[in-house]
Amino acid sequence: MYNQAYQMLADNKEFCLQETLAFINSQILAQAEEFAEFPNTATSIDFCKRDLTIVLNAYLEGLELETDERITFVGSRYWKGNKSSLVGNKQKEIVAHKFLRNLICDYVFKNEQYVSQQGVAQQKLFETQAEEHARTKVFHDCEILIHSIVEGPKKEYLHNHLEKRFTAKWWEPKQVDRGDLETILECAYQAPSKQGYHEFKVVVLTDSPEGREFKEYLYWENTACLNKVRAAPGPGLRRYNGQVLAPTVMLWMGKTYPPGNNPFGESEWLRTNNDCIISATMAMCQAEELGIRTGFCGTLGGREIAQRLNMPGYTAVISVGFGYADTDSLQVRKVYKDGVEMGFDLSNTDSAIRRYENRKNRPPKYSMINYL
Ligand SMILES: Cc1cc2nc3c(=O)[nH]c(=O)nc-3n(C[C@H](O)[C@H](O)[C@H](O)COP(=O)(O)O)c2cc1C
Repeated sequence: MYNQAYQMLADNKEFCLQETLAFINSQILAQAEEFAEFPNTATSIDFCKRDLTIVLNAYLEGLELETDERITFVGSRYWKGNKSSLVGNKQKEIVAHKFLRNLICDYVFKNEQYVSQQGVAQQKLFETQAEEHARTKVFHDCEILIHSIVEGPKKEYLHNHLEKRFTAKWWEPKQVDRGDLETILECAYQAPSKQGYHEFKVVVLTDSPEGREFKEYLYWENTACLNKVRAAPGPGLRRYNGQVLAPTVMLWMGKTYPPGNNPFGESEWLRTNNDCIISATMAMCQAEELGIRTGFCGTLGGREIAQRLNMPGYTAVISVGFGYADTDSLQVRKVYKDGVEMGFDLSNTDSAIRRYENRKNRPPKYSMINYL
């Protein structure tokens, strides 16, 4: 139990934050080598403040719950896919985190007055010292943090998996394990639904002869595009959607409603559509977390699919392919049938390749996300 240490750090959180910021500032002014590339702007100082607060909260949670789960998670946030999200020399973060750790362990926990370098927040002193092992605990958590910054996440979380995700179109023959499939379907099933109606069905196309036949139909007839028009007749090279040839393909079938007749065009159809997309997204997230690759395909002849499945009153809204797939750096691959070139499909483009046609229009993060 670290009750005393927790209280001491909680009451000195602002002090520790301000003192670390002052330390960083002093390093920049002294032109310390590690801080040479530190972008000394209001925005980067604000991010620095945010990150130090997150780390302080993680130390507090570690002391309170006696686990290192929070600091492990915080460490995972220093990575984007296979790349560090830090700009410049990582040593500056390490030096700053060691300073904060020592400030906590050598001053706050020991009730030693630190010679303050800032005038924003004062150190609060206590009558008693922190528990004996509190210092070891903070050192341990700081070690996890530094190791994660240098080597990569100790554990990968959903955000790490999503940062590495790509639309998979070309598959390994390996089937998805039945247990994993059930977990993915559990997530699809647990999805929230507007008004709780859940008016959709999920059709799972497996490796069965019927499943394979349906996937072939989706690939060659239903989803292929000629000059960007789905299922357009005529000769020419088509654009295919390999997502629908995955070892497992799921189709989300939304209950169909007529178009809206209120002035805003709102309709129950939008509700069932949204439910399908949300359920499919939850399935995708779970799959990616399990190391199973995914590919959305919305280019569907939804009514024809429903007809073929004998599901009147439903329309296929979205499909997701699930399986195993490697990335490549090509942008397109040719599609052949019986040795004859039929067209092309995009490749399994590695998520690190950002100049790719369909990715380059993603706006910068904080032009998309706005706090009020
Ligand atoms: C709702 C939805 C529908 C999509 N439909 C298609 C599709 O029909 N064909 C296709 O090639 N990609 C489809 N995609 C995948 C996007 O085109 C893809 O996410 C985008 O090109 C970025 O590539 P990335 O996922 O590999 O990063 C769809 C994605 C979403 C979210």
